[in-house]
Amino acid sequence: MKKAVIFDLDGVLVHTDRYHYNAWRILTDKLGIDFPQERYDGIRGLSRMDSLERILAFSPRQFTREEKEALAAEKNEAYLQRVEQMGPEEVDGDVRAALRGLREKGLLLAVGSSSKNAKRILARTELTACFDAIADGSMVTRAKPDPEVFLKAAELLRVAPAQALVVEDAAAGLRAAKAGGLQAVAFGGDAAGNPLADYEVTRLTALLELV
Ligand code: G6P
Ligand code: MG
Repeated sequence: MKKAVIFDLDGVLVHTDRYHYNAWRILTDKLGIDFPQERYDGIRGLSRMDSLERILAFSPRQFTREEKEALAAEKNEAYLQRVEQMGPEEVDGDVRAALRGLREKGLLLAVGSSSKNAKRILARTELTACFDAIADGSMVTRAKPDPEVFLKAAELLRVAPAQALVVEDAAAGLRAAKAGGLQAVAFGGDAAGNPLADYEVTRLTALLELV
């Protein structure tokens, strides 16, 4: 029996995965690091610092802790410039229809995101009120693929992990969900076709048939 659906944010509810990629590209172009879309797919869902570490591993150069902090801040600044232009029109009609439909069916809804910018994005896109709980990167100490953020979301909703369905576009997110004992739905990105997923959908309104 499913009582709740926990949504990843970037690449599931909104297309901010593209904005993350574009912001990383500004940095990688400057540093002379080859960073095609396929490489980005390999770091989907990882925290800002974990993503940066993986990207810098493609460079022969060594970076100090201070340099890494500065690069992470620079990436976030470029990313936020794009986020500040977001509005409610950036949420697909299918996403809003899915959230409405799940709510009507009595499901509890949460966001489970590694992003420290999650609340800002939900506010800008006017999605905040659609959710009963929001667990984000500022509330956890261990990022995906650790299950902490999803367990936090389930706790806030007061449901057992096994009663919650997680929707993810990242393999790291699917791993996090399964490690926490939650059910996992793959939705695009590098989650697509991943055998870890219990279900796979290509549009979020298909969730209405799974609950
Ligand atoms: C999400 C995205 C990642 C991003 C992470 C941290 O999980 O999928 O690509 O690195 O959040 O985001 P932040 O907005 O805190 O840099
Ligand atoms: Mg994602």
